Order: sequence, then structure tokens, then C-alpha cells
Amino acid sequence: MPTYTLNVNGRDLQAAVSSPEMPLLWVLRDVLGLTGTKYGCGIEICGACTVWINGQPEKSCDIDVSSAVGQRITTIEGLSPDRSHPAQKAWVLHQVPQCGYCQSGMLMSVAGSMNAGHHGAEIANEVDNLCVCGTYQRIKTAVAGL
Ligand code: FES
Ligand code: FES
Repeated sequence: MPTYTLNVNGRDLQAAVSSPEMPLLWVLRDVLGLTGTKYGCGIEICGACTVWINGQPEKSCDIDVSSAVGQRITTIEGLSPDRSHPAQKAWVLHQVPQCGYCQSGMLMSVAGSMNAGHHGAEIANEVDNLCVCGTYQRIKTAVAGL
């Protein structure tokens, strides 16, 4: 089984996988146990699987593990050590989640947009993650202050 070294949340982790084409999402969840990142559609549409690659939001269902080697990967578990990222605080303040399933990806997309220097409505316009529960209005309210 090939083994890859992946830099995840600031640490180099070894991942033994069955194929170099295994999606990064599978590796994060099933090999490394980082289950905060979710599987939704598997075809790059919903955004539930969003992580950062070198600080930029990317859909991990569409990234082969072999191409993630040498990149800086950040998952929801690494967004902040104590849930203190401004987006996380806004999510709590405005009680954004309903079932919560989409929210890891949503937060990584929102915070990734902030990494790019965007604020408020710019973030809302940029983030196109899907939420089956329809929390969009609360998301809009939460990002308005970011
Ligand atoms: S699971 Fe990756 S975009 Fe839906
Ligand atoms: S909070 Fe349920 S899918 Fe978004």
C-alpha cells in the first residue's frame, strides 16, 4: 500500500492508502480520522467537503491524495485551536447551523474567502456551498459582520 506524507493542520501525517487516486476527502475521514470534513455529493457541487489547500478553499472530494502531497492542508479541526476564528464566533452568535452537516464546509469556504481579504457581502456572494436545511439567511446575517 502506498504511504503519503500529508501536512494537515500544521502536522506531517502518514497516510497509507489503497490508491494514489483516492480522494483527499476519503483519506482525511477514513485514514486520518478527521471526520469534521463531510461527504455530500462527491461531484464538486455541494461544498460539504471543503478544506483549504495553502489557505484557499478547495473541494477535497475532487483532489487525489497524491496531488495533496507537499501542500498545506487545513481542515475544520485546524481552523482555530479553540473555536475563536471570527467566522466561528459569528456562527455561534447568530446560531447559524440547523442539522450542521454542511457547516464545516460552509465555515471553511467563508473563512477562506476572508483569507483572500473579502468581507461581508463579498463573502456571501462568493460562497456557493449548498445547505439542505436552508440556513442561507442566517449565514448572510453572520457574514455581514465579517
Ligand atoms: S462532497 Fe465534495 S463538493 Fe460535495
Ligand atoms: S445545516 Fe443542515 S444541511 Fe446545512
